[in-house]
Amino acid sequence: MADVPVMAGKSVLVTGGTGGIGKATAIGLAALGARVGITGRDQARTEAAAADIGAAPGRPVVDAFAVDMSVQAGVRRLAAQVRDTYPRLDVLVNNVGGFWAHRHVTADGLERTFALNHLAPFLLTSLLLDRLTSSAPARILTVSSAAHGRGRIDFGDLQGEQNYSGQRAYSQSKLANVMFTYELARRLDATGVTATVLHPGVVRTSFGAEDQAAYLAVMIGVAHLFMKTPARGADTPIYLASSPQVEGITGRYFVNRKPKTSSKASYDTAGAARLWQVSADLAGLTAHP
Ligand SMILES: NC(=O)c1ccc[n+]([C@@H]2O[C@H](COP(=O)([O-])OP(=O)(O)OC[C@H]3O[C@@H](n4cnc5c(N)ncnc54)[C@H](OP(=O)(O)O)[C@@H]3O)[C@@H](O)[C@H]2O)c1
Repeated sequence: MADVPVMAGKSVLVTGGTGGIGKATAIGLAALGARVGITGRDQARTEAAAADIGAAPGRPVVDAFAVDMSVQAGVRRLAAQVRDTYPRLDVLVNNVGGFWAHRHVTADGLERTFALNHLAPFLLTSLLLDRLTSSAPARILTVSSAAHGRGRIDFGDLQGEQNYSGQRAYSQSKLANVMFTYELARRLDATGVTATVLHPGVVRTSFGAEDQAAYLAVMIGVAHLFMKTPARGADTPIYLASSPQVEGITGRYFVNRKPKTSSKASYDTAGAARLWQVSADLAGLTAHP
C-alpha cells in the first residue's frame, strides 16, 4: 500500500506565499499532502502563485487570499475568509514580513514594519485561535530572524516616530515575533496548540526590495551569491509544520531544525506581557466596557 503523505487531510495557512520563503514553504507542505492557503496583496499574483504551487499532479487545491495585511481591516477580512474556507486549521505559518529603509505609515496610522511584521501575525493568530484550538493538535509557527538579537522593544517609541531606522524597526519587529511566540506558548499551555518561532537563514528572495537603502542594495547584490535558495530557507518551517519529531514542542526558537537560545531580551516575560497588552490595544482586541 502506498504511504499516506504526512500532511494529508491537514489544512495550513501560509501568510506571504506568493514568493520567497513563504511560497517555498507552501510548495513543501502541499507536496506533503496538505491543503494550503497563501496570502499576497494582489489578486492576480496570489492566484497565479496558488496555481503554480498546486500544479504538480496529485496536489490538493491551493487557496489564494488576496489582502493587504499591513492594515487591520485586511487581516480581519483574511481571518473571516479563512474561517469560512477551513472548518479545521491545523497549522498557521506567520511568514509575512518586510523591511523598509524609510518610515511608512499604514492606513491605520501605524509604522509599517511594526504593523506588518508584528501586529498582523498577532491579530491574525488571535482571530484564528479558537479554530486552531478546536483543531488540536495544531501548530503556530512565526518566521522571525537572527536580526532579533539586535532588537530592543522601545515602548517609548514603538512606531519610530522620534527616531526611525529600517534596521532598528526590523530588529524590533523580529524580537517582537520571538516574545509574542513565547507569551503565546505560555497562554496556550495544555490546549494542544504549540507555538514555535524560527530563523530561516539568509535567503535569496525579494526581501526588502520595495524600499532599499542604496548601501544595502550593493551589499545584497554581492551577498546573493552566498545566500540560501528559498527551498533551503523553507526547510525549517516545513519541518516545524509537519514533523512528528516536534509534536508537542512549544515556546522554542529554531535555527536549521534545532532549538537554539534566542537573545537575552527575548526571555523578558514582563516585557512580553506588556507587549501583548499594547498590541491588543493597538489591534482593537481589548474589551472596553
Ligand atoms: N530573506 C531572508 O534572508 C530572511 C532572513 C530572516 C528572516 N526572514 C523573514 O522571512 C519572512 C519572509 O521573507 P522573504 O524573504 O520570503 O520575503 P519576500 O520575498 O519579500 O516575500 C514576502 C511575501 O509576503 C507578501 N507580502 C508582503 N507584504 C504584504 C502585505 N502587506 N500583505 C500581504 N502579504 C504581503 C508578499 O506577497 P506580495 O508581494 O505578492 O504581496 C510575499 O509573498 C519575513 O518575515 C522575513 O522577515 C527573511
